[in-house]
Amino acid sequence: MSTVLGVIVIARNGDRREFNQDPKTYAPSLTDSTALGVSDLHGLGKQLRSTYLTPGSASYISSLSSDIADTQQIKVRAKAGGEGSVVFDSAIALLQGLFPPNSKNKITLANGEVVSAPLGGYQYVPLETVEPGNDRSMESWTDCPAFQKHVAAFHDSDAFKAKAKDAAPFFQDIKDYVFGRPTTLENIIYDFMNTQLTYNQTYAYRLPPTLIDQARALADFHEDGVFSDAEANGVGNVAGRTLLHTILSSLERITFNDDPLQFMLVQTTYQPFISLFHQTEITKDHPELKAIPNFGAALAIELRRGSPPDLRDFLRFKFKNGTADPQDWRLIYPFGGHADIPLTEFIYRAEGSAITSNKQWAQVCGVKPGFSAAARQVAGQNAVQFSLGAMGFFVLFVAAIFLTRKVRAKKYIHLPEDDVETVQTAPRMEKGRLL
Ligand SMILES: *[C@@H]1O[C@H](CO)[C@@H](O)[C@H](O)[C@H]1NC(C)=O
Ligand SMILES: *[C@@H]1O[C@H](CO)[C@@H](O)[C@H](O)[C@H]1NC(C)=O
Repeated sequence: MSTVLGVIVIARNGDRREFNQDPKTYAPSLTDSTALGVSDLHGLGKQLRSTYLTPGSASYISSLSSDIADTQQIKVRAKAGGEGSVVFDSAIALLQGLFPPNSKNKITLANGEVVSAPLGGYQYVPLETVEPGNDRSMESWTDCPAFQKHVAAFHDSDAFKAKAKDAAPFFQDIKDYVFGRPTTLENIIYDFMNTQLTYNQTYAYRLPPTLIDQARALADFHEDGVFSDAEANGVGNVAGRTLLHTILSSLERITFNDDPLQFMLVQTTYQPFISLFHQTEITKDHPELKAIPNFGAALAIELRRGSPPDLRDFLRFKFKNGTADPQDWRLIYPFGGHADIPLTEFIYRAEGSAITSNKQWAQVCGVKPGFSAAARQVAGQNAVQFSLGAMGFFVLFVAAIFLTRKVRAKKYIHLPEDDVETVQTAPRMEKGRLL
């Protein structure tokens, strides 16, 4: 019998066209998903279905409706902002694998006629896109002056300078393979090389072996330095600190018996993985996680009932480095443990570094009122490009349900009361795709 009561899945987007971020501010460029990327995420959805929605699986969540999605039991948040269109497509592809078309998805009308959903019973699972312009919970590192200072300090550090010196011969070697792109440690050329290597046969035939591995190692060093901090609640971890609030508040909902939520999908990009692994001290036992996770990588946090007489709830953390990871799902343990961590202990140790509201985010980032208005405008423009570039149509509806849900969980879970202007309860629009 499975003891899994619910799960939070945090998934990286799938592969896409080349993507650039400003090395200092991390302002994103535009990019688009590819058939390879969505095919991978669809595969991840199928794997999650066989793990959590299939009777007989050791992690089967028996109360979760598995043929036809019960939209009260599932919640999906997708990061808008940088790589937004890719993240959106990834979430849709994952959901298509998680809840494939089902012939039972039909309805009988008053006149007796039976109408099936298109595409053989396609399932429409609501998806909330989180725009950094009005909700900082998913992309907290852009437009954040304190984070930019942290990036500058990293670039100025001895470790960075030593690495740049070591890498100088490599940057000389790759000049012929990056076509004039700046070959410095600040400018990550790995993304360009990897995209070419994946989609361009001429390039793939020409590129000498080992160069891509060296480029990846340098990119890993760089992104790990940028998206981590010596202190759990340092601004370098800002990407994970806002994600942590989503994790804690979702756990709160999943544990609460009267709340139907059992499956939370957080579809995002690579940055918060790195911070979260640092903040929860997972990188101490797993230094290999101080790196960019592969496309389609996922962290599953399972809420499990303890075995009697222990009536506590526990958390199990599992990581998979992309759908093709030869190690499959591996167990990783937060805070130096070597077994499932009691829920209460995890909350106690993690909540101090969570950023729970836009207001707190602004304080952490040192955002001045004027600046934040400008940031909002920029984010708004991104959102427009995102919606035009990414997809056909959106439906809009307000998530009134979140305004009514407050702290109602079992007594032992106490999250800080949200501010009025809060990450989770700020009125916002939800978007879903119409096919
Ligand atoms: C593919 O790679 C070749 C050789 O490096 C290069 O000349 C060409 O521009 C690349 N094509 C695309 C579409 O990037
Ligand atoms: C994920 O896979 C990539 C490439 O296969 C590798 O470079 C990286 O170290 C892996 N990360 C982990 C955490 O296994």
